Amino acid sequence: MWKTRITEMLGIQYPIIQGAFHGFGTSPLASAVSEAGGLGMITAHALNTPQGLREDIHRLKSKTDKPFGVNITLSLCQDIDRMIDVILDEGVPVVETSVYRADKYGKRLQAAGVKWIHKVATVKHALSAEAQGADAVVIIGLEGTGFKNPIQLPTLIAIPWAVRQIKIPVIAGGGIGDSHGFMAALSMGAEAVYMGTAFMATKECPISDHYKQILVKGNPTDPKFRDRNLASPKNDEEYSRVMEKKGTMPDEEWLLELEKAMAKSTGEFPQNEMEMIMQFAPGSLAIAVTDKIVTVKELIENIITGAEAIRQRWAMG
Ligand SMILES: Cc1cc2nc3c(=O)[nH]c(=O)nc-3n(C[C@H](O)[C@H](O)[C@H](O)COP(=O)(O)O)c2cc1C
Repeated sequence: MWKTRITEMLGIQYPIIQGAFHGFGTSPLASAVSEAGGLGMITAHALNTPQGLREDIHRLKSKTDKPFGVNITLSLCQDIDRMIDVILDEGVPVVETSVYRADKYGKRLQAAGVKWIHKVATVKHALSAEAQGADAVVIIGLEGTGFKNPIQLPTLIAIPWAVRQIKIPVIAGGGIGDSHGFMAALSMGAEAVYMGTAFMATKECPISDHYKQILVKGNPTDPKFRDRNLASPKNDEEYSRVMEKKGTMPDEEWLLELEKAMAKSTGEFPQNEMEMIMQFAPGSLAIAVTDKIVTVKELIENIITGAEAIRQRWAMG
């Protein structure tokens, strides 16, 4: 009923993909998403080492036999070649790479029969990923959280503009968290939705209840959410200076510099890793439609039931 090229390609029931998460993108959440009919995603660098990744894949497989993916975030994941050894060894069917150019890894994965999806923030980079041979692209609009780009566009503009130019399936992310966003994304020509923040407010997500409450009670006009997400970095001198430093210092230090340049903040950054993650990416404007902590199954069922109701209303004219 919700068949798209993505559900066919990945062998999933619903065109819903769970986002990658630094720090907590592990099997408790990923297995629940896959089991509920979406594509759950383990984030390789959340497990730190290839052995850690292998053990978490085993934990996921003990909870579900449905398809799942592994994310490799280029700026943050260490030891990528050995992470890919584990991915191939364990028969992981889908890999999502994110940030920068990943065709070197994508080609190795595809040669072994793995589907390679690349996640980007701009239509320009989605076109490059297609030219480099990716099987599908995820485009995150400005409403979403994560790395921002000076030429990033809102989801409502980026997706239809991309679909006009790109032949491989486009997956929409950024501010999507309910049946309305789901239907909007599919109407714009996306073949699946990609959600981060909405999955953070589920019972299975291994973050504290304190952060889940911040998300469900949060107001999208609060500057912490609105300004942080909508203010794409200015391509100014400070931003360029930080971008040039990439690779010359440990990634954690570089990310803090990038964050300061983007947020124009000189404030102190917390030492605690989880505090740091949440300050860097406190959740997106999807909090507008995230008002209850539910199980992953309930979230997916609510989206699908709501989408079916919308479809029926449209059919009745
Ligand atoms: C706390 C947090 C950590 C994230 N860490 C990563 C990461 O390590 N790698 C990555 O590719 N995306 C990361 N993301 C981005 C999400 O995977 C996803 O692209 C984004 O949340 C989509 O927008 P949405 O929140 O509006 O659904 C993170 C997002 C959040 C909120």
